[in-house]
Formats: sequence, structure tokens, C-alpha cells
Amino acid sequence: MSTFTYSSPFPPSFVFGVAAASAQIEGAAFADGKGESVWDRFARIPGKVAGGDTLDVACDHYNRFDEDFALMKSLGVKHYRLSIAWPRLYPQGDGLLNQAGLDFYHRLFASMARHGITPWVTLFHWDLPQSLEDRGGWTSRGTVDAFARYAETVVKAFGGVVKNWITLNEIRCFTWLAYGVGSKAPGRKESAAVVNQTFHHALLCHGHAVRAVREHGGVGARVGLTDNCDVSVPVTETPADIAAAKAWFVEKNAHILGAIHGKGYSQVHLDRVGADAPTVQPGDFDLISEPTDFLGLNIYSASYVRAGRNGQPYEALALPRHYPRADSVWLNLVPQAIYWAPRMCHELYGHASIFITENGCGYDDEPVVDGEVADLHRRDYLRNHLREVHRAIADGVPIDGYFLWSFIDNYEWEDGYQRRFGIVHCDFRTLKRTPKLSAGYYADVMRTRTVV
Ligand code: FCB
Repeated sequence: MSTFTYSSPFPPSFVFGVAAASAQIEGAAFADGKGESVWDRFARIPGKVAGGDTLDVACDHYNRFDEDFALMKSLGVKHYRLSIAWPRLYPQGDGLLNQAGLDFYHRLFASMARHGITPWVTLFHWDLPQSLEDRGGWTSRGTVDAFARYAETVVKAFGGVVKNWITLNEIRCFTWLAYGVGSKAPGRKESAAVVNQTFHHALLCHGHAVRAVREHGGVGARVGLTDNCDVSVPVTETPADIAAAKAWFVEKNAHILGAIHGKGYSQVHLDRVGADAPTVQPGDFDLISEPTDFLGLNIYSASYVRAGRNGQPYEALALPRHYPRADSVWLNLVPQAIYWAPRMCHELYGHASIFITENGCGYDDEPVVDGEVADLHRRDYLRNHLREVHRAIADGVPIDGYFLWSFIDNYEWEDGYQRRFGIVHCDFRTLKRTPKLSAGYYADVMRTRTVV
């Protein structure tokens, strides 16, 4: 019998952290030999990003990381998920390595070590070198070869200090949204067949990154994918609705989570894509299904699902107009999502270790008033979600950590700087940092290891 109850603290090994990504906070977009990324280019196309905001300065973390790590330390942050900017290391994506880029991350990791903060490094968080995009980007298998070389370079260079690796962040966002919907860089609108091929290329990169960590990561290295799976929450927690939510989950996640666990695309997926199925080469699935050590889940939104009527396996409900949402239009507020997604991944695919690699909420402009940002809505969001994480652990779901998105307000992709996710406010004119009320709240959670 488990002795973990509603009032227990989080387990001693549970990791609390914060997350951010290179393109969103570093700035210095063209400093020290960094190449142009697809986002640097996309942001300059009129009408693509709110306010015409660029990534040129962002939070200027490139020059202020010492100050940022000192602030993290003062809040009690001991784990930080960050990403490496591929175009800082390989300005053209492949070809010549830029030593100044490597040097920057060496300085950054040294500063983290001085501040007692453990790095969790994502190899790719959307900043594809523009030069690779000019040669086809994610539609081209050449990008996979370039990524394999980049991943090997990074793990070889930093494997001594980095032990926690994430291969890719949210495949759907840099493939489907970037090449199908066109809302993310490079903003293309290609056919379903092309988009399915971009998924496949991304999966191959995931496999290459796993192999790079196995070969060059050294003792104690661990690696996993971060996925923003489509999340289903059963309308009621009854066996019939839970089974329906599971059936929905399997179908919606067949092309990514299903794929990394199989020796080929599942019939569910092949039936869905039909003639638009991607081209697969022999050996691809040996790479794609390389075993990993954990699964990373980014949890934001969810769909409600219940048992279907008239023999249908499920029925998904549209959210009514009055259902609570954040200012980010895609972000409905369903805390149970962070309970059900890990539980389903555990039950369906047998994951024995799951990390919430992102969870947070985006709202517009909360100004600093009298030195304070009283973001009670974010505090409540965190409390509600952490309670569900805790409930999942009590129910035997192996969630081993939680990374809050985000440490600081940053460049929220096509929503620019207006949409804020940080627990630390950033004034984008002066670059002054001001911890919000939610930062104090999260500091208390980390310190007491309970949902206060
Ligand atoms: C996720 C991204 C992250 C951030 C949050 C709000 O989809 O991984 O970079 O923008 O959304």
C-alpha cells in the first residue's frame, strides 16, 4: 500500500524547475557569428508577429545570464530547462562550426554551476537555421543529416556538464503549424503529404539525438522527447468515459507518441493519412523507436471526451464560450489535463518516468504597480495544476518532475512580447526584471515541497 497521501510532500527526488528557450530569451540574434534562424526571418515579414516584434534583443539573457541565474537562485530554483540555439553553433545549419557559439554555452553552464542550478537541455526548440530552410527545411531529409551532426557536436561538447537531454520540443509546432497551418516560422502552407513527411523527418532527428546521448553523453546521461500531445480529459471519471478518452488519445497521438513506441506507423495512423503517408526508408524505425529514459510532456490545453453514442468509440465536446481561458486563444484552463496526459502515457505506452517539461499560462501585459505584479490568476493556475500533479503521483503515475513555463516573460512566438508567461516580469524597454507574486508562490512550493 502506498503511503503517499493527499497531504504528503512531493517525493524527495521530485524535480521542480523552470523553463525557457534560446530564441525566446537570449536576444543577441546576430552576435558573435550567430546565423539567421527561421524565426529571425519570419519575424521580419509584416503581419506575421504581433506588434512586428523581433527576437533581436528579447530578454538579453545572452548578456545577463549571470544576473538571471542569481535571481533563480534567490527564488530557490535548482533546475532549469533551456535550449541551445542551433544557428549559434552552425550558422549555416551544417558546414563550419562557430567556436564563439560553443564558448557562450560553456560560459552559461559554468554560471549555472556556480549558482547551483542543474541544466536540462533541449537540443531543438524551433530555431532552425535559415540556411537549411533555404534548402527545404523540415521537408528535406538533408535537414536530418545536418541535425545528426549538430546533436553529436552538442552532446560531445557539453556531455561532461549536462546529464539531462531533451531531443526536440513539440514536433507538431515546428512541422504542422510551420508547414501546414503557416502560423509559425517559416510560415508555409504545404499539402498534408508534405506535412506528414516533416513529422517523419523530425522523428528521425529524435532518434539521432537519442543515439548521440547514448554514444557521447557519458555516465548518468538520460534522454527523452518533449511532446505536446493532444490531451483528452474524461468528462466524468467513470470507466466508460475514461475508456473513451483513451481511445481518442491513441488516435490523436498516433503519429508521434505512437510512432516512437512502434516498429512502424500504426494502422490507426496509416488509415488516417491514406495516400498522404510519408516515405519511410529501411531502418528508419530502428532509429525512431530507440528506447528513451523518460517522456517530457508540455501541458497547456485539453479536450473533454466522453463515451460515444450509437456505438461510436468516443465523443469530443466543444468547449462552451464561457469555459475559462487564458489570453492565449489556444489555452483553455483544464487542470485535469496534467493528471490525465501522464496517466495515459504511463498506461498506454508504459512510460516509467515522466517529466512535465512545460506548464504555464499566458496573459497580456500585467504592469508593475508599486514595484509589484499581483498575478493572482497565475498563482491560482499553478496551484490548481500542481494539485493535479500531486494527485497523479498519489495514484501511482510516475511523474518525476515539473518545469514551469516560464521563468521570465519572453518572446511568445507569433504573439510577440505582449503575451506574458513569466513568473518574473520583464520590462522590454529597460530589461528590468521584477519577480511577480506567482514567483513568490512557486518559491514557497519548491521550498516546502507541498502545494501551498
Ligand atoms: C509552448 C512552447 C514554448 C512556449 C509555450 C507558451 O508551445 O514550447 O516555447 O511558447 O508554448
